[in-house]
Amino acid sequence: MCGIFGFVSEDKLNVADIIIDGLKRLEYRGYDSSGLAAVINSKIYSRKQSGRVFELEKVISRSIKSSVAMGHTRWATHGKPTNKNAHPHCDCTGRIHLVHNGIIENHKELKSKLEKRGHIFKSDTDTEVMAHLIEEFSKKYSFEESVRLTLESVVGAYALVIISADAPDTMIVAKKSSPLLVGFAENSKFVASDVSAILPYARRVVYLHDGEFAVITPSDFRVATLDRKKVFRSQELIEQSPVDLAVHGFLSAKDEARKNNFPHFMLKEIYEEPEAVENAIRGRLIVKDGLAKLGGLESVEDKMKRLNRLIISACGTAYLAGLTGEYMLEEYGGMPVEVEYASELRYKKQLFDARTALLSISQSGETADTLEALKEAKRKGVLNLGLVNVVGSSIARETNAGVYNHAGPEVSVASTKAFVSQLAVLSLLTLFVGRQRGMSLVMGKRIASELSTLPEKMRRVLKEAPNIKKIARKYHKHGHFFYLGRKYNYPVALEGALKLKEVSYIHAEGYGAGEMKHGPIAMIDKNFPSMIIAPSDSVYEKVVSNIQEIKARNGKVIAIATEGNKEISKIADDVVYIPKMLEMLTPILSASPLHLFAYYVGVMRGYDVDKPRNLAKSVTVE
Ligand code: AGP
Ligand code: GLU
Repeated sequence: MCGIFGFVSEDKLNVADIIIDGLKRLEYRGYDSSGLAAVINSKIYSRKQSGRVFELEKVISRSIKSSVAMGHTRWATHGKPTNKNAHPHCDCTGRIHLVHNGIIENHKELKSKLEKRGHIFKSDTDTEVMAHLIEEFSKKYSFEESVRLTLESVVGAYALVIISADAPDTMIVAKKSSPLLVGFAENSKFVASDVSAILPYARRVVYLHDGEFAVITPSDFRVATLDRKKVFRSQELIEQSPVDLAVHGFLSAKDEARKNNFPHFMLKEIYEEPEAVENAIRGRLIVKDGLAKLGGLESVEDKMKRLNRLIISACGTAYLAGLTGEYMLEEYGGMPVEVEYASELRYKKQLFDARTALLSISQSGETADTLEALKEAKRKGVLNLGLVNVVGSSIARETNAGVYNHAGPEVSVASTKAFVSQLAVLSLLTLFVGRQRGMSLVMGKRIASELSTLPEKMRRVLKEAPNIKKIARKYHKHGHFFYLGRKYNYPVALEGALKLKEVSYIHAEGYGAGEMKHGPIAMIDKNFPSMIIAPSDSVYEKVVSNIQEIKARNGKVIAIATEGNKEISKIADDVVYIPKMLEMLTPILSASPLHLFAYYVGVMRGYDVDKPRNLAKSVTVE
């Protein structure tokens, strides 16, 4: 899931300024290497560099101007993140260059055929094969036709931008599964993986659809399908501000300031968690009637009444929000729920029927696994709902209806405020569905009232930061961790483990607390600590037994417990307290301490918690 940015202009623009600016806005999509290319005097100027975009800045000329240029920031799928594997990639002559987001699944077969025809490959990537294919076709066909034939030859996913020294005023772009859109300014056209890179230059955009390619020159913009059908698509006006669109990790000097003096975006976004929940519930709670008002679902409200099954599809942290939602929706919403990893759902036998709906949860709205699972369900006529943060993102645009969580831009790769925001929306959805299905007015008012107290209680939890930091210092050198919880706090235990893994690279395992004794407890000793979420709820006594089982084997225990519980401090080694809360909402309170703990441990271990190694903010490859 890399980031692509480029332009075609009537004017000669400063390549470094514009392309680097665009790549920095897209760096959340991948940051292991980057590069750029531009047509200059009928030759291609190209530079690429492993590492972050600021490393590329050190090796490019700041003075070059061009009317056709493109850039790429990579998240490697095939070939290590080295200079030679960075994009752009070119053909043997160096006259055809391209950048790619996606995976070419038949690249090995194509590469072997091309090598037999004398092509010399310079990289280990799948991408490079397309540059040589275009070169091969160009021996007989035009640039446009060579690209079209190449696209017909490859199997897999791509967002592609291609330039050629032999067509100095032309850029060809193509899309299949990976996102790509075109922005229209007065004298220039911009192409990008997502709208956040285009917004500073244009608000009128065209989203390419799968199987389409476009030929762009300063005076022309033509879209066609691979079978040569012309496509006419009107431009869409992007109304939202960059902030609404959750402008991702643009780390310019002014955006560094957006960290508002926090040392990292991750810490800033953890402290924004109460506000993220406020934004999620704002205008959507009618406490006096015990109702949730979700405007984005009004068009499908009647269909939802007839549902007898909801399948939740997501990845990573969003999946864990969905797992929490299952407990909420089943216990209080009266809705049977199954939660699936999107990457599994897409390939398994899907027993959908007319009373099934799919709910896709995604912060970025661009996750390929989640998007493809959604499209597969759509082909089967399933009602498709979305719970998405980035307005206008691919997943949001593919669904029939949905709810934006309005968490604002989440820049840090490790998702924090989006998670609690997703839980808040799932609580609203539980109220929405439950009150359609027999939830009493009393219970509705109770949930609505408790929900409205969340932000203030979350702010109280954040005051525990100094205590959490002290505990992090005590445990940050450990190589292994268990995260344990039951019922509503089982998924959030998994979330705590995922966060620690992501930002500290510690091997952390999340487990149902009751499951520990069925094997994993064999690993417990004084060097294998456990984080246990133990609020005073319906399963508290069972969790206390699990803590005792661990202590009996010299395991250290950090407990997250309800304020006023003195008992727990006699058995746990360390305790972090959270306010008393309706059981269904405790995961929203226990998430912040887990996020803070992971943050402090990651920083104490000296890692870049905002952009951890091997990760990217939005995974747009399968
Ligand atoms: C969470 O901290 C990770 N960055 C990752 O698991 C993420 O939740 C997952 O890739 C899904 O992303 P999405 O919500 O944008 O679809
Ligand atoms: N598969 C290509 C590579 O490994 C593109 C990866 C991406 O989309 O970032 O370079």
